Amino acid sequence: MRIDILTLFPGMFQGLLEESLIKRARDAGLLDIQLYNIRDWAQGRHRVADDYPFGGGPGMVMKPEPLVAAIESVAELHPARGPVVLLTPQGEVLTQAMARTLAREPRLTLVCGHYEGVDERVVELAITHQVSIGDYILSGGEPAAWVLLDAVARLVPGVVGSDQSLVEESHNAGLLEYPQFTRPADFRDLRVPDILLSGHHAEIARWRRRMSLLRTARRRPALIEQAELTSAERAWIDEMKGHDEPDYRS
Ligand code: 6GU
Repeated sequence: MRIDILTLFPGMFQGLLEESLIKRARDAGLLDIQLYNIRDWAQGRHRVADDYPFGGGPGMVMKPEPLVAAIESVAELHPARGPVVLLTPQGEVLTQAMARTLAREPRLTLVCGHYEGVDERVVELAITHQVSIGDYILSGGEPAAWVLLDAVARLVPGVVGSDQSLVEESHNAGLLEYPQFTRPADFRDLRVPDILLSGHHAEIARWRRRMSLLRTARRRPALIEQAELTSAERAWIDEMKGHDEPDYRS
């Protein structure tokens, strides 16, 4: 997958691209990620990329000419097109379903908004999708682009080492993860649940499913409404409502 990132602060991506999962995926040729500084398309000795808002008000607005020129010239660098995503708090909130859809594209262009926003004509002329990562305000679109990039990259086939973890993820779609434990079996008088040491794989799977249901019901009740559960599972959740023990000992 080819991913082009347009930003006023390319340095903010250095760590992300040179560490961990994304670095390995780039080295393996699974992701071709390119960074561009929008300022390189700005005119004049000072390469100004922002200006005062018409109508007054606080803050600055990203000028249309450099940004549209940047998006158009980056588009020409590769034959595939694909979504041109502006990261903005005005966008549709990123979900796992959206990440799955974007991961199927041959190419993705991420445009990081800054200041009080971008000139609306940029959106009209050059942007196909607007995405937010949640209901809070960041100082720029860069951290949101990191989040989107990470969520999409790990869904590109081959990027996550074992496909098994992705299979399990989709089986538990929309539920929180069950609690995980590793050695030692006893730590400061807290014992790992016996079932996990039993070697009974079917029983372990059943326990994990129940822990996921319980956790999700308690912490994110809205997710339970949406999830695909059997009627037996819904009945079990109702039955557990009165209990308040820690959710891995119940
Ligand atoms: Cl995409 N940008 C900014 N500036 N703030 C945000 C956001 C994006 N998503 C949530 N908050």
